[in-house]
Amino acid sequence: MIVPGSSSQSLAAALAEETGRPLATATYDRFPDGETLAAVPGFEGDSATVVATTDSDGAWVELLQLQDSVREAGADRVTTVIPYMGYARQDRSFGGGEPVSARAMARAISTGTDRVVLVNPHESAVADFYSVPVDVVDAASVLADPLPALHDPLFLAPDGGAIGIAETVRDAYGSGETDYFEKHRDRETGAVTVSPSDAPVGGRDVVVVDDIVATGSTMSEAVGVLTERGAGRVIAACIHPMVAANATTRLRSAGVDRIVGTDTIERGCSVVSVAPVVAEAVVADAVVEEG
Ligand code: R5P
Repeated sequence: MIVPGSSSQSLAAALAEETGRPLATATYDRFPDGETLAAVPGFEGDSATVVATTDSDGAWVELLQLQDSVREAGADRVTTVIPYMGYARQDRSFGGGEPVSARAMARAISTGTDRVVLVNPHESAVADFYSVPVDVVDAASVLADPLPALHDPLFLAPDGGAIGIAETVRDAYGSGETDYFEKHRDRETGAVTVSPSDAPVGGRDVVVVDDIVATGSTMSEAVGVLTERGAGRVIAACIHPMVAANATTRLRSAGVDRIVGTDTIERGCSVVSVAPVVAEAVVADAVVEEG
């Protein structure tokens, strides 16, 4: 059965459809003291695929409970799909007694599963923190699907780390150039500045591609620079549309034409699903098991 976390309802349903597997109905309750109680009352079968994005602290607790619920109900094989892995950006200690948060989370999740599927974690190396096998799925190509017809397109990464994603989207779209900005983030204030590349943008449609829009600082800075430099439509595309707090209004103020995201985090701008690519990993995993 496909077992959804509360934040991955649509994606889990789409994944059930893609794989032909039954969709469980989980319940998510709270005790009066605030503790979480996630359960899967109608679970049947001996294998479970828990699909739960971890976009909040509560979502991590819920995921651990869903893993345990299906074990308790008889599942002897558990696959855990984490469409968006929170804390993945704290993949090393930055000093001052800070933890490696991604490692702490991975260790906890590994205790309740036989396998993990991650969708575009911030760095693939985060997979090494798990003590069970991990499939890292690259879903960037789906971002090309909702793009309109573009004029002389430029696919631009707001920093060097996202250039691979920008190239994948360009390849999936079928034409256009790629380039990237240099980014600096002040760790104290979170303020972002970008140094534009030399690529001419005047009158061109520019798709700014990143793995995540969180506070929107990076994306709005890039969009603002492109708008000032006379770009045509500037489209913000990301795999993980966290769009926390005022990110949407910051992007609109900067002049963005539209925001395009996937359903790894379910938001209003989640206009395309990663279900087809995640389904491939889940089904391939099942074939290995049966073999
Ligand atoms: C950083 O390396 C990431 O790829 C994103 O650019 C960043 O995490 C986005 O965060 P925010 O929206 O807060 O600028």
